[in-house]
Amino acid sequence: MSQRILVTGGTGYIGSNTAVELLSAGHEVEILDNLYNSKIEVLDEIEQITGKKPKFHQVDLLDEAGVTRVFKEGNFDAVIHFAGYKAVGESVDKPLEYYENNVTGTLHLLKAMRETGVKKIIFSSSATVYGVQESPEYVETMQTGGHLSNPYGRTKYFIEEILKDYSVADPEFQVCLLRYFNPVGAHPAGLLGDDPNGIPNNLMPFIMRVANGHLPELKIFGDDYPTEDGTCRRDYIHVVDLAKGHMAALDHLKPGVSIYNLGSGKPTSVKEIVTAFERARGEELPKSIAPRRSGDLPEFWANPAKAKAELNWQTELDIDDVMRDTLAYIAKHA
Ligand code: NAD
Ligand code: UD1
Repeated sequence: MSQRILVTGGTGYIGSNTAVELLSAGHEVEILDNLYNSKIEVLDEIEQITGKKPKFHQVDLLDEAGVTRVFKEGNFDAVIHFAGYKAVGESVDKPLEYYENNVTGTLHLLKAMRETGVKKIIFSSSATVYGVQESPEYVETMQTGGHLSNPYGRTKYFIEEILKDYSVADPEFQVCLLRYFNPVGAHPAGLLGDDPNGIPNNLMPFIMRVANGHLPELKIFGDDYPTEDGTCRRDYIHVVDLAKGHMAALDHLKPGVSIYNLGSGKPTSVKEIVTAFERARGEELPKSIAPRRSGDLPEFWANPAKAKAELNWQTELDIDDVMRDTLAYIAKHA
């Protein structure tokens, strides 16, 4: 059944790819974003892919009256909440801005939902809420919020807790917390990729900037970890698989709080990522080994069994698909 969905942060990387899946499935989509970390042209890219241009509200979640106005006009069935700041290192230097934007922004959103009777929300959480665990294979039942190394991660943990509390106060409220592992890749049309403002912190956006000549070389942060090739291992997930995870979550929303890991279940090392990129491109990447980056864990990955069993969702794309679509994106956005 077609639903009216408000996508906050919908001109961003994951939000825009999810908007494409929603529109393609026949849902009505409106986007709320302040364009802090995204560009208005993304709306044209969404239209190029789907033939539909979502209604856009250039509104800041910190503008409570503006958010409420969008809800009063929107008559939404559900919200998918992507909007937030996401740079781990920056959050250490600007904790107050991170708590205000991510936590206060979410409170404004929830108050507007309450005022207009919108009872369904899917929230972009992160594997980062697990912190340090005894096993590197993260399961939803593990305790969260311990040993978190940065304010960004704590905003995700706090928002999860706020949503749990609110669902107790309103038993009709339907919440799905999606804990993403490492989203990578782009839409296969070579559109809607991860193109952050400034120098990227994350591995794939950094590789993309080296490949297009905007940065001189990739530094591999540490090759002396206790892993097979000495580099860190992560669970990389193609952004289209991740977007489809939101569709599955929307279809299975129910009263109370549901929590799912969205990952492939398979870890890949930094060296394996670099080799896969070089293989797809047919050319070596300038690179060197650098010291470890502080705060990095040697390895972790998702146990995705719960999402498979309950949402009937699992990843379908692999690292070679990621590299093909990343190269298509680079070719269109040189
Ligand atoms: P993104 O920066 O591309 O998208 C976020 C969007 O939110 C941007 O378009 C930005 O302009 C908007 N935004 C930020 N603050 C806002 C505000 N106050 N009001 C309105 N709009 C605002 O990031 P993304 O990679 O698409 O991530 C989406 C969500 O998923 C974020 O919440 C992020 O923390 C979470 N997440 C991302 C990753 C990742 O690696 N990309 C991993 C785990 C979780
Ligand atoms: C980071 C965030 C995490 C967030 C995730 C989503 C930290 C501590 N955690 O995780 O909260 O949810 O992004 O994408 O930052 N690497 C290099 N060279 C580079 C960049 C990265 O070798 O120039 C290595 C890193 O050391 C790491 C791996 O690549 O081993 C992946 O790094 P990154 O993409 O930043 O993701 P995470 O650190 O897993």
